[in-house]
Amino acid sequence: MVKNFSMAPIGVFDSGVGGLTVVRAITDLIPNEKIIYFGDTAHLPYGDKSTAAIQAYSVKICDLLLRHHCKVILIACNSASAAAFDLVKEYVGSRSHVLNVIDPVIDYLREDYTNKQIGLIGTKQTVFSNIYKKKIDALDAGIELKSLATPLLVPMIEEGIASQKICESMIHDYLSRQELSDISALILGCTHYPLIKKQISDFYLGAVEIIDSSEIVAKALKGFLEFHNLLNKSSDADMHCFVSDYTEAFTALTKLFFKRKVKLEHYPLWE
Ligand code: DGL
Repeated sequence: MVKNFSMAPIGVFDSGVGGLTVVRAITDLIPNEKIIYFGDTAHLPYGDKSTAAIQAYSVKICDLLLRHHCKVILIACNSASAAAFDLVKEYVGSRSHVLNVIDPVIDYLREDYTNKQIGLIGTKQTVFSNIYKKKIDALDAGIELKSLATPLLVPMIEEGIASQKICESMIHDYLSRQELSDISALILGCTHYPLIKKQISDFYLGAVEIIDSSEIVAKALKGFLEFHNLLNKSSDADMHCFVSDYTEAFTALTKLFFKRKVKLEHYPLWE
């Protein structure tokens, strides 16, 4: 175990590049933190996988993050947060803290969204799990959730959005569906979606607020670290990325996103 636990890294994982949107918000807000990131590109997309498969991947990834003595493990993936958070929390036990990307958004909604109709887009795993609906209903704040699974968005984003036209027409097709009618805000319930936030926002011409969880999650993480006296006060930040399969999209995005030097390593979950 590292001597000063506050100097230990934060472990973050997702199925691919999506969690990097959360990491960028974290490094903007608390730049001293060391980050160990795992992108499970070999098993992407998680959104179409069974709950059992996502749980198995998540546990394997946590083994790696625990070997690196992560002080916190942040599941930067809505699909894995929906499918595996409770199991991972139990598995990790007292060895680290486990956080997800859904609870901070629910806390955020509690503040300003009483009696409003809110939309949610996400993977099939996230939407069909009903996790947002259950947590929003538990707030008892009169919020009506309208949700739609948008499974084609992740493969399109991982492909690096080859054609702007395809991207716009896919977004148009999904967002004009009846399921999302009359909403005043839309939750981006997948950490990949901030990468097409502008196109989503353009579709609504500013009439619908876009709730991007990356900043909300980063703020919640900072609050958590402060509360537990785990904020890294030294300035030896670095970032180490593991991927279960090298993909061009991943390498290109890490370069584009982060000014700091990023170590990229291949780590197959199963040999
Ligand atoms: N970025 C992830 C999420 O938030 C996973 C998307 C996927 O792999 O299907 O759900």
